[in-house]
Amino acid sequence: MVVDIGGGTVDITVHDKSNGGISVVLPPMGNTWGGRTINEAFSMLLQKAVDDKGFESFIKSNASNKAEINRLVYEDFEEQKKLFGNVTPGIDEMVLELPRPFIRNYGGNVIRDGMEQEKVHYDPGESALEMKYAQLEEKIFKPTIDKIIECVRAVFGELTDHIDTVYLVGGFGGCRFVSQKIKEAIAQHCGNIVCPIQTDLAVVRGAVMWRKDPNIIQSRVADATYGIGVLSFFSLSMHDEHYKYVGEDGQQYCDNVFKVFVLKGEVIKDEVYKTTLIPSHDSYTQVCISIYCTTDDGVQYVIDKEGKLTVRKIGELVLDIPNPDNILRKERDVSIFMDFSGTEIQARAQYRITGEEVKTVCDFLSKQDY
Ligand SMILES: Nc1ncnc2c1ncn2[C@@H]1O[C@H](COP(=O)(O)OP(=O)(O)OP(=O)(O)O)[C@@H](O)[C@H]1O
Ligand SMILES: [Mg+2]
Repeated sequence: MVVDIGGGTVDITVHDKSNGGISVVLPPMGNTWGGRTINEAFSMLLQKAVDDKGFESFIKSNASNKAEINRLVYEDFEEQKKLFGNVTPGIDEMVLELPRPFIRNYGGNVIRDGMEQEKVHYDPGESALEMKYAQLEEKIFKPTIDKIIECVRAVFGELTDHIDTVYLVGGFGGCRFVSQKIKEAIAQHCGNIVCPIQTDLAVVRGAVMWRKDPNIIQSRVADATYGIGVLSFFSLSMHDEHYKYVGEDGQQYCDNVFKVFVLKGEVIKDEVYKTTLIPSHDSYTQVCISIYCTTDDGVQYVIDKEGKLTVRKIGELVLDIPNPDNILRKERDVSIFMDFSGTEIQARAQYRITGEEVKTVCDFLSKQDY
């Protein structure tokens, strides 16, 4: 099991190396409780103490104050976060000096009183927050650590096979405090937890190794269900009346059917998946094929009965299908090819009549606006 805890996300994958290569045995799981949430929690504590949501009044008063906040939260506090994270012997308190403009804006006494409410000491003489490590752990680190552990446990809950090694990687995963907590929390599942020396670089090194030799990954499992929305012949036993639609040819069709290429959890074959479609009207000279994915099971239609998308659109293929010779639409098929074998999905559509094709690349995480 590889537990990659970065700044933004926790990403957990499970691999089988028993036959030489690497097979991915479980769809990746994770959440967004990465190391940045520590900085955010600290920022929230400050916001609460000065009673200023998003430091709005401070930022409004001077354009450069935004940079002051960023420096405080992501540079000065970052240093303290690492000192704490590394379990540096002999230190049991965080002393963090607050920026002058910050103190001037809110007033030392206001900061002191606000911090007192949070049971944190602020020393106006030194302009510094003094927080015992026990407090820092309880107030700032604990919520994040709890969410990370919850996620790792959930992955163990999905497994039937024994895990012999857990690799803890990513910058935040390499933080000694974090790795210690994780070790304790999963000791009953796995006793062998390995932390490389440079945990953040381990991820990059793995990516480079894979690029140099993609064959080191023997097989993958789909992290979501992928497919397209299609019009199919209506079948009473398979389809819901709600989606029924009578075509100009008098035929009954079912609209918005989720035509699945791969199902979540399925082992992805080392081949290109193919399907063919025909235009839904004779007059159509362009087709637009949306590529969807979902992590939900059993999705049958791409929209619900209120007309809302039930799946996530991750890409689109728009293909011209001219028809100057008035060929019947059932002979004007469009082939769709999807290749899931890489880290991105390669999709392609081709029109039989002209041989013209269009391509696109998409992945589950890409936020594309259509
Ligand atoms: N010694 C440490 N103690 C505490 N946190 C640390 C330590 N070293 C690094 N971090 C944290 O690790 C995070 C960065 O990790 P990493 O470089 O793996 O992230 P990333 O790959 O950029 O993010 P993501 O994988 O989420 O996209 C930052 O939040 C940083 O504060
Ligand atoms: Mg990362």
